[in-house]
Amino acid sequence: MARMPIISGNWKMHHNHLEAIQLVQKLSYELKKEDIEAVEVTVHPPFTDLRSVQTVLDSDGIPIALGAQHCHFEEKGAFTGEVAPSMLAKLMVTYVITGHSERREIFGETDEDVNKKVKAILKHEMTPILCCGETLEEREAGDAETKVAGQVLAGLKGLSADQVQTCVVAYEPIWAIGTGVTATPQDAQEMCKHVRETLRGKYGDTVADAVRIQYGGSVKPGNAPDLMAQPDIDGALVGGASLDAVDFARIIQYRLAI
Ligand code: PGA
Repeated sequence: MARMPIISGNWKMHHNHLEAIQLVQKLSYELKKEDIEAVEVTVHPPFTDLRSVQTVLDSDGIPIALGAQHCHFEEKGAFTGEVAPSMLAKLMVTYVITGHSERREIFGETDEDVNKKVKAILKHEMTPILCCGETLEEREAGDAETKVAGQVLAGLKGLSADQVQTCVVAYEPIWAIGTGVTATPQDAQEMCKHVRETLRGKYGDTVADAVRIQYGGSVKPGNAPDLMAQPDIDGALVGGASLDAVDFARIIQYRLAI
């Protein structure tokens, strides 16, 4: 079954709302209709930019999906500084990254937190992009597969097969994020295949063959075609290179180089 590729720009803590508007407009000039038809594109600006970016996407009719980088799992309450999934849904956000390694490492998010967030995101009819990935030490110790499978299964715990089928998983080896070191296409493929086989073991063929799996970690215009050519890599979660409209557009146009 053909899976629609999905390429997501994770802007992290970069760009105020004015810069965000410029970036998304520039990106839309770079992309052609065929690009957007061939690949689903999502952008994930900081919370403060969401409203502005949503307005531009809407008023200019730009077919790019709006995403968020994070959310809380509660509906409302005394959680200073947090944002509820319902607030994102109201802003036409359709994808929410959850379990990014920076959230896990810097802000102490656990697998249990991530699982609650995945459920809350789905409840509000948005799609979670569930991140997983190993550290260099874990890889060298031969623990990468166990770590990644554990994060995926824990993040999806308690969901029905139908719900899992709609989720996106992003495999992001931590040693490749923001370092300029990319996993080789073969290594990335091997781990994305491992994620798919983990899903197959737990949820069966239909789910495993439907879930879209992104690779993330120093994806650039130069390495995107080889990564995207791998059978189990259905997309990319792009950090640094998504801050440059031309680079991000070239990544989205990876198929022109295959
Ligand atoms: P990078 O970030 O492309 O800058 O390595 C990827 C990510 O953290 O999502």
